[in-house]
Amino acid sequence: MASTHGAQVLVASNRGPVSYQQGEDGSLHAKRGGGGLVSGLSAIGPDTDAVWVCAALGDGDRAAVRRAEGGLLPAGETGGQRVRMLDIDAAVHADAYNGIANSVLWFVHHMLYQTPLEPVFDAEFRRQWAAYEAYNRAFAEALAQEAAEGAAVLIQDYHLALAPRMLRRLRPDLRIGHFSHTPWAPPEYFRLLPDDIAAELLSGILGADRAAFLTQRWADAFRDCCHAVLGPGIPAGTRLGVHGLGADADFLRERSHRADVAERMAALREEIGEGRKVVVRVDRTELSKNIVRGLLAYRQLLEDRPEWRERVVHVAFAYPSRQDLAVYRKYTEEVQRVAEEINAHYGTPGWTPVVLHVKDDFARSLAAYRLADVALVNPIRDGMNLVAKEIPVVSDEGCALVLSREAGAYEELGEDAIVVNPYDITGTADALHTALTLPPAERAERSKRLASAATALPPAQWFLDQLHALDDRTS
Ligand code: G6P
Repeated sequence: MASTHGAQVLVASNRGPVSYQQGEDGSLHAKRGGGGLVSGLSAIGPDTDAVWVCAALGDGDRAAVRRAEGGLLPAGETGGQRVRMLDIDAAVHADAYNGIANSVLWFVHHMLYQTPLEPVFDAEFRRQWAAYEAYNRAFAEALAQEAAEGAAVLIQDYHLALAPRMLRRLRPDLRIGHFSHTPWAPPEYFRLLPDDIAAELLSGILGADRAAFLTQRWADAFRDCCHAVLGPGIPAGTRLGVHGLGADADFLRERSHRADVAERMAALREEIGEGRKVVVRVDRTELSKNIVRGLLAYRQLLEDRPEWRERVVHVAFAYPSRQDLAVYRKYTEEVQRVAEEINAHYGTPGWTPVVLHVKDDFARSLAAYRLADVALVNPIRDGMNLVAKEIPVVSDEGCALVLSREAGAYEELGEDAIVVNPYDITGTADALHTALTLPPAERAERSKRLASAATALPPAQWFLDQLHALDDRTS
């Protein structure tokens, strides 16, 4: 088994590698998730004692947990992985996940608050914070129970910032890593949080042997927050590290050449029309992704440079996300409204300027990747943004990348991308024009270099690097 000194490996994250839908007749349907962690964990092979601890996220998951023998989900449904799903009280989970993780911590790290009305740290917030503590404790206790002597535990993301320290107290023998998949806020923003909460979050992560981030920028911000909130010096015992998760070239190239993708390419071509340039974006409908400003930039391109009318189509896939939160539902509506408004204003009988799809369909995303002349990735802030890495790998003709300087991917891709300030709509419109008019040879060259930088650290290696670094006291 590829692990550290043959010791057991555990992964902990809010969202696990599988989720369940319950049919009318009570039957359960398992759906495997994608993403870096899932493919990363597969690097340690199916026949190991590695365990993934995650939370039950809905009624289907809860039914699957009740049915699971010995707490482990059936291997046939998890792709061979040993998965323990925690049935945390639904109200506690909702307060921890929707209330604290997604409405506070996500907002802080992505700097999304619309001050001066937000944030509101009142009694309701304190009540939700207690749920966040309880949720983290449930993970720490499950991990303490599951882990063999000396096991390596890799705890993921902002949902589980307190768990490393809690687990350390329960099991001092374990080697614990924490990985942040988000940006980390600079101290002046992080300190919007009440002082005791800010200190608890940092100390929670510092309970790990190693705290790792997607880019040096986020690691530096974490260190700065520790200095500002806890006083100078990261306590001895915690090391900081950086692992820039890359795209999975082999998987993407193989998957994007299957028949279902070809079918969707044909359908998309039909929607786009002959001979038109294609600007592609694919996101969760997520406030930090800045989809509305992206649409407004495209609108400005059509307004200021009428030569592009009828000659370009913006293919925008915006897949619903975190719909329990009103602010996300409102944002989803706004994305649709702006897209419709552009189509109503500029569209002609033979040309739809924006092709917007909101139903999640991975094969169709890959089809759009293959057709892309330009990829638009303009988040306000983003831990990494894998779409920026995936499109250059998959695009048939090589694409130009319009990339926000606030995406983690900028550190690796900035040189060959056309870089934008995500707040600057006029600047983004100009960047789209530049991208659309790149000479073909230059575009192909840049795209090749982007694809090569994007795949420097594939998910399996990214995961193994973290395990090895946990052992190596010098990294
Ligand atoms: C980000 C987070 C992940 C999270 C994902 C989807 O990438 O870093 O931890 O799983 O968003 O968000 P969701 O709330 O649907 O899990």
